[in-house]
Amino acid sequence: MSLTQIDHPLIRERLTRLRDASSDTATFREAIHDIARLMCFEVTRDLETTEHSVESPLTTTTGYKLARPVVLVPILRAGMGMLAGFTDILTEASVGHIGMARDEETLEPKSYYFKMPPGLWQADVILIDPMLATGNSSADAADQLKADGAKNIRFVCLIAAPEGIEAFQKRHPDIPIYTASVDEKLNDKSYIHPGLGDAGDRYFGT
Ligand code: URA
Repeated sequence: MSLTQIDHPLIRERLTRLRDASSDTATFREAIHDIARLMCFEVTRDLETTEHSVESPLTTTTGYKLARPVVLVPILRAGMGMLAGFTDILTEASVGHIGMARDEETLEPKSYYFKMPPGLWQADVILIDPMLATGNSSADAADQLKADGAKNIRFVCLIAAPEGIEAFQKRHPDIPIYTASVDEKLNDKSYIHPGLGDAGDRYFGT
């Protein structure tokens, strides 16, 4: 089981802006975009590459390309907030979408949308959801990806609760988790404490 906390001064500083309840929508969007870009570097660090020769203006030398196509999968809706940071770097990536909504009564996730590019089985899939709270919606989303053929999945969040990490890893010990912060706990409404509130509401200004 793999959990990587990406610790970087710029991430820590931007995360503080996200946590700050007085940050407006523009500040929140800019900070989450920056963090996603910074995280992308670490999340993709061990992607496999293959060698091929390339003609430089001077000579023939060794070049590299990604061994597999990359598919980014934000979980709607909050995952959309981190998508642009990843597509800034992975301009060639395809994007699939999974719609999961939390039933505010039962707190259980419900899937309402699933649309993937073809050939998921041969791709490196990066599942994106900013808040790993109970872990149920992310783990359900990973179930759906595996059922659709995905074999190489990694999961990226901004903030993870210890409870969510445990629940996710129990169901998907093969999927590495990348996060910018492991926070203290879940509260009785399954919000992450100290967290940043509702990531979707704050990103979309709802
Ligand atoms: N989803 C959020 O947006 N925030 C939390 O704290 C937990 C789940």
